Amino acid sequence: MPDLSTSYMGLKLKSPIIAAASGLTNSLQDIIELEKNGAGAVVLKSLFEEEIVSDMDHDLNKMHSESYLYPETMEFYEDYDVEDTLTNYLKLITECKQQVKIPIIASIHCVTSHNWPYFAKSLEDAGADALELNIAILPDDTEQSSADVEKVYFNIIKAVQQEVSIPISIKISSYFTNLTGTLTRLSETGVKGIVLFNRFYSPDIDIENLDVVSAPKLSSPSDYVLPLRWIAIMSHRIDCDLAATTGVHDGATLIKMLLAGASSVQIASALYKNGFAHIKLMLDELKNWMVSKDFSSIDQIKGILSQSKSIQPAGYLRIQFMKHFAEK
Ligand SMILES: Cc1cc2nc3c(=O)[nH]c(=O)nc-3n(C[C@H](O)[C@H](O)[C@H](O)COP(=O)(O)O)c2cc1C
Repeated sequence: MPDLSTSYMGLKLKSPIIAAASGLTNSLQDIIELEKNGAGAVVLKSLFEEEIVSDMDHDLNKMHSESYLYPETMEFYEDYDVEDTLTNYLKLITECKQQVKIPIIASIHCVTSHNWPYFAKSLEDAGADALELNIAILPDDTEQSSADVEKVYFNIIKAVQQEVSIPISIKISSYFTNLTGTLTRLSETGVKGIVLFNRFYSPDIDIENLDVVSAPKLSSPSDYVLPLRWIAIMSHRIDCDLAATTGVHDGATLIKMLLAGASSVQIASALYKNGFAHIKLMLDELKNWMVSKDFSSIDQIKGILSQSKSIQPAGYLRIQFMKHFAEK
C-alpha cells in the first residue's frame, strides 16, 4: 500500500489534498466530513477584515495607517465588545482543534495594512496550526511602481512574523512582473509555504442588461496549467513548500502537481461540483497510479518532473506557439 502522507509547512499531512479556503471550510460539520473523506488538512475560509469592519458600528477608515503594527488599533480591537465575525472564527478554530485531528490552517485577508498582525495573533492564540495569508492587491494607481506594490507583501509578512510563531504561508496571484524573482525573495522571508495561485472574484459583463456581473466562481479543469508551470519552475529553486491551487479537479492533476514539485494541492471547485467524497476518488486514483508505477511514497514522486529534473526543461519556459502555428 503506498504511503500518501506528505509534509507541508512542517506539518505532517495524511494525504496531499487540502480543502482550500472556501464556503465549504466554514463550519465544524463540513470540516469533520472533509477529514472523514481523506483531506490532509483544511484551510478555513478567510477571515475577511471587511466583514469584521462591517460588524462594527465604527469608521475604521479614520484609523487607516501605513504602519503595520499600530498599538492604538490593537487596543481598539481589544476594547471592542463583541466582534461577531472574529469571535465566531476563533470559536470555529477551537472547536476544530477539539474535534478533528488534521491540521487546521487559518486564513486571513486584510485591506487596511495594520490589522494583519492583530488578527494573526488572535488566530494563533485560538489554536490554529498554521496561518495562510491571503494577500491580494489589485494595483490601480498609475503612479505606483511595481516595487512599491511588492513591498506591501514583504511588509505584511514581516509584521505577521513578529506576532506569531506558527508556520506562515502566503497565497498569491501570478500577477507579478518577475514572478521567479518575487517568489524567490518571498521564500527567503521565512514563510513555510507558498500557495500558487489564488482564484479571485472576477467581473463579467451581461450584454443583455448592460450590467457588470460576477464571472463564474468555479475554476475549469484546464486552469491547472498555470500553477503547474510555476510550481515546476520554482520547486527546486526555493526552500519553502509549494501548494498548488486552481484547476485541480481530479487525481491525474493531483499527480501532475506532485511531479512538478508541489507538496500538496488545495481544492475548492471540485468539491463544490462533486461533493466531499471526491477527495476519496482522487486519492484512489493517486494510489492506483503509484502502485502501477511502483512508487511507495509521495517523496519519491515529488518534483521528479520539475524544470530542473526534467529532460525537457525548456518546455516549462516556452510561451509562444511558434511550431504549432507553423504546422497550422
Ligand atoms: C466560493 C469560493 C470561496 C472562496 N473563498 C476563499 C477564501 O475565503 N479565501 C481564499 O484564500 N480563497 C478562497 N477561495 C479560493 C479557493 O481557496 C481556491 O484557491 C480557488 O478556488 C482555486 O482552487 P479550485 O480551482 O480548486 O477552485 C474561494 C473559492 C471559491 C470558489
